[in-house]
Amino acid sequence: DAGQKHFGPITCKSCGMIYTANSPEDAVQHTQYHRRFLEGIKYVGWKKEHVLAEYWDGKIIVILPDDPKYAIKKAEDVREIVDNELGFKQVALSCPSKSKIYMFVSTEKKVVGCLIAEQIKQAFKVLSEPVLDESINHEIQEHHRAWCCSTKPESAICGVSRVWVFSLYRRKGIASRMLDTVRNTFIYGSFLNKDEIAFSDPTPDGKLFATTYCGT
Ligand code: ACO
Ligand code: ZN
Repeated sequence: DAGQKHFGPITCKSCGMIYTANSPEDAVQHTQYHRRFLEGIKYVGWKKEHVLAEYWDGKIIVILPDDPKYAIKKAEDVREIVDNELGFKQVALSCPSKSKIYMFVSTEKKVVGCLIAEQIKQAFKVLSEPVLDESINHEIQEHHRAWCCSTKPESAICGVSRVWVFSLYRRKGIASRMLDTVRNTFIYGSFLNKDEIAFSDPTPDGKLFATTYCGT
């Protein structure tokens, strides 16, 4: 450090929060977020964890509705972080007893990915790009995420209600590997096709990911 002051946004290398270095309010917010986030994604592990896949950079586990309390508690803590980031407020799972929570645990024992899958019967295709209203700023439209959906139901088996990867671990194939694992293990003994999976109300990121992953 040559003594120069840092202006503008910086990204915390541990929690990923972007904040302004010279703002005291930001510093307080960051300290709080930092602690809560790292505590939330800390993974201690337990004896009877269900490991579904192992990689050089981590493993994928699943937490099922009948798992012990401490496992469910971890899943809920992570879900809270995810919902917070996605802007979901107290959105209950449509059917907790049918939800499976997949988590990617890094070799540093942090939950860096989470995917919640529920059994469904039907889904509706997203139609091509929504008609752009020229009077509305495009950036705002993107964030409105009002995709137009077909009214014709199509059969589907697995609904992804949430998929999330810690910002500092994105674009490393973590979401893709979680989804491969879901397709491989969601229904015992069968491998789901990409068109048997549906994503609920995706964010712009989610839509880009799903489009690439599903090749649609
Ligand atoms: N922009 C463009 N393409 C993307 C993006 C993106 N933001 N994210 C993924 N892709 C495409 C790329 O082609 C990528 O391959 P490449 O990196 O070789 O180019 C491919 O999808 C596979 O991406 P992964 O690395 O497997 O995806 P990642 O682990 O980064 O996770 C996710 C993607 C989950 C969407 C992540 O960006 C995220 O957590 N975002 C914030 C939370 C969010 O919006 N989640 C989706 C909510 S919608 C829902 O839950 C149903
Ligand atoms: Zn931080």
